[in-house]
Amino acid sequence: MASGDAKHEQLDGVRADADDTELTTQQGVRIDHTDDSLQAGERGPTLLEDFHFREKVTHFDHERIPERVVHARGAGAYGHFQPYDGWLADYTAAKFLTDPEVSTPLFVRFSTVAGSRGSADTVRDVRGFATKFYTEQGNYDLVGNNFPVFFIQDGIKFPDFVHAVKPEPHNEIPQAASAHDTLWDFVSLQPETLHTIMWLMSDRAIPRSYRMMQGFGVHTFRLVNAQGKGTFVKFHWKPVLGSHSLVWDECQKIAGADADFNRRDLWDAIEGGRFPEWELGVQLVEESDEFAFDFDLLDATKIIPEEQVPVRPVGKMVLDRNPDNFFAETEQIAFHTANVVPGIDFTNDPLLQARNFSYLDTQLIRLGGPNFAQIPINRPVAEVSTNQRDGYGQQRIHRGTTSYTPNTLGGGCPAIADSEVFKHYQARVDGDKIRRRSESFSDHFSQPTLFWNSMARWEKEHIVEAFRFELGKVGDQGVRERVLGELNHIDHDLAAAVAHGIGLEAPAGSTENHGRSSPALSQANSPTESVE
Ligand code: HEM
Repeated sequence: MASGDAKHEQLDGVRADADDTELTTQQGVRIDHTDDSLQAGERGPTLLEDFHFREKVTHFDHERIPERVVHARGAGAYGHFQPYDGWLADYTAAKFLTDPEVSTPLFVRFSTVAGSRGSADTVRDVRGFATKFYTEQGNYDLVGNNFPVFFIQDGIKFPDFVHAVKPEPHNEIPQAASAHDTLWDFVSLQPETLHTIMWLMSDRAIPRSYRMMQGFGVHTFRLVNAQGKGTFVKFHWKPVLGSHSLVWDECQKIAGADADFNRRDLWDAIEGGRFPEWELGVQLVEESDEFAFDFDLLDATKIIPEEQVPVRPVGKMVLDRNPDNFFAETEQIAFHTANVVPGIDFTNDPLLQARNFSYLDTQLIRLGGPNFAQIPINRPVAEVSTNQRDGYGQQRIHRGTTSYTPNTLGGGCPAIADSEVFKHYQARVDGDKIRRRSESFSDHFSQPTLFWNSMARWEKEHIVEAFRFELGKVGDQGVRERVLGELNHIDHDLAAAVAHGIGLEAPAGSTENHGRSSPALSQANSPTESVE
């Protein structure tokens, strides 16, 4: 049996076919009538005695669970991953990345970030790209996005950032992630957002299809080999179909005509046997090179340019099966950056450290208590044996008397080979307790400029149009001017073109301008040519 089937064999035990079965109560008592409640007399009141009515309506009353606090709208599919060969074994003890004989079952959930569960697919937003690998060594979750960078450097800012992005609290407008004063107010005050804002204003934020999106782990993680040696790593997913985007006008029309556009596209492709594929690649950096860059590897607002560290292919992922039930699988799946397996570890990236707290915490409420890892979609194919007991929704019947270690009365803890055990990477930590961002995180402009300069002329035009659309909707003049001031630090021509489109004065040329002037753009957006 290919290990790619292991998850489905496990799920077979809990699949329930609704068709062609007789109705029963939750207690298995057969019923033949569910259209009328039990009444005292033909036109009399409903009786408390009607246990079927009460059970049916009570269950319905409790059908909804909280949507995810971010990434509420998503679509998912099953698939599997297989490495091409074993070269990565020099760097990691994770078997699913290094044994070409092993096909690992997985589930991917793609999502938008800001909208609610019922929002439209084709909005300008980051897309989540979260993968749960059901490996033989336990579940590994790569919880990434379709951008390689993030808006903030420290997770303590995440609630502020999300409050600025989400609809405004007094009237819950706007539903779209962008185009409102609070987001742009935040951006104008937090220049660390700028690199990701440039991605957000680019065509990457309006993908044609989930099948045509790159994915990124974003953070610098750490691979650890069988000898305990660490290597920094950035993860990349590259779609075999290539990266493709919509254009803004298409997004507007599609959102009205088919709000499920991306979700439907993924579903239809898989139903039609056109299985989407991605190549997993890694950028590796020796620990001795930690300080070889002009940015900090722990800063999630930075990429490692591929000219400096090429992406090396590792293996391929195929998505080949749609879920049977959206709620049971796509809605109840719980990804967590701290779900790691031997051979993969964290770094001190303060955004990652915060995420390692946040996901489990939020899922405790979203999925109703401490046993959500037992929900079928979350259950590992690896054996689970803990001393954790009881709690809401407990599904297991633990036998024996010992739920503690050490003990002499139960089985005890059998010896396991070191390579099979997760051992936290040993690193020296030294320093004063301090609530301050490292100086090495302070350059917020060089990489946005790098991004801008790497764009083709038409891509720059789309970015300018996006900024004009967004800032054109901002009511507060101070916010607009501050954002233009920030753009001016990225590239003067960018700031001038945006200012021109929204009827503002171009800011004076910036002394901190990291970019070169962009002659092609200056011409494209000369005062005689307006981009609406
Ligand atoms: C959900 C990615 C930063 C908290 C998600 C999801 C993705 C994601 C893909 C959706 C998972 C799914 O499909 O179920 C990222 C990336 C980040 C980032 C790539 C930065 C590199 C953060 C930070 C925090 C955070 C800094 C908090 C401090 C959450 C929470 C959820 C979530 C609470 C909802 C999880 C759930 O209800 O299951 N994130 N995120 N994220 N993220 Fe993040």
